[in-house]
Amino acid sequence: MKYFIDSANVEKIRRITELFPCDGVTTNPTILARESEDPAKTLLEIRKVIGDRLLFAQVTAEKGDLMIRQALTLAEKLGQPLSIKIPATVQGIYAMKELSRRGVSVTATAVYTVQQAMMCAKAGADYIAPYVSHIDDSGIDSTETVGTMAKLLTVHAPKTVILAASFRVTEQINRVIAAGAGAVTVTPETFEKLISSDGTKRETDSFAKNWNAKFGDSEITDFFENE
Ligand code: E4P
Repeated sequence: MKYFIDSANVEKIRRITELFPCDGVTTNPTILARESEDPAKTLLEIRKVIGDRLLFAQVTAEKGDLMIRQALTLAEKLGQPLSIKIPATVQGIYAMKELSRRGVSVTATAVYTVQQAMMCAKAGADYIAPYVSHIDDSGIDSTETVGTMAKLLTVHAPKTVILAASFRVTEQINRVIAAGAGAVTVTPETFEKLISSDGTKRETDSFAKNWNAKFGDSEITDFFENE
């Protein structure tokens, strides 16, 4: 299972990369506009922080030929491993086909439907990014959609991974992983929520209370000094 950080905030990425076994970073034009005054500088800083983890950078063009040119420049500037995010449009499919023919890794993004996923996989997409919350907002069951995508891709495009995106609650993440997503991208704040549990907190508090009651503030290793 792969976990990516959905952010362009370099300090938050540095923190999550240090704390969690994450696999890389996903960005998009909205996320960059939110966090950056200089997208090139920000993406290069992210590359420095994540090293050889996978970076996802998105084209801003709508026409296929310009998407291809932008993708080739991003690949030249941002180093590897890199996957170029391309919206699942007709022009996007055209660009995905050509870029994967040239050996450039592509990710189909802003995906809502099963047929978009199938066609983008056939065009050579390594990753398919369904927008879970946005699919739900459109009145369609995202878990069912991701489940059908996973079932069909396993048969027809086994190399293509579902990178589920756009979450509001961790329950959505559980559901799409159970439905067959092989990767998720979550905000730095959600990363922390993924493993936080009041129950675990209660347990660690009680460990400390019981230990301190008996042994004060000594550490367990103190008792091995004379052994
Ligand atoms: C990730 O690759 C997407 O770009 C991102 O998750 C979109 O989510 P949002 O539109 O809910 O922020």
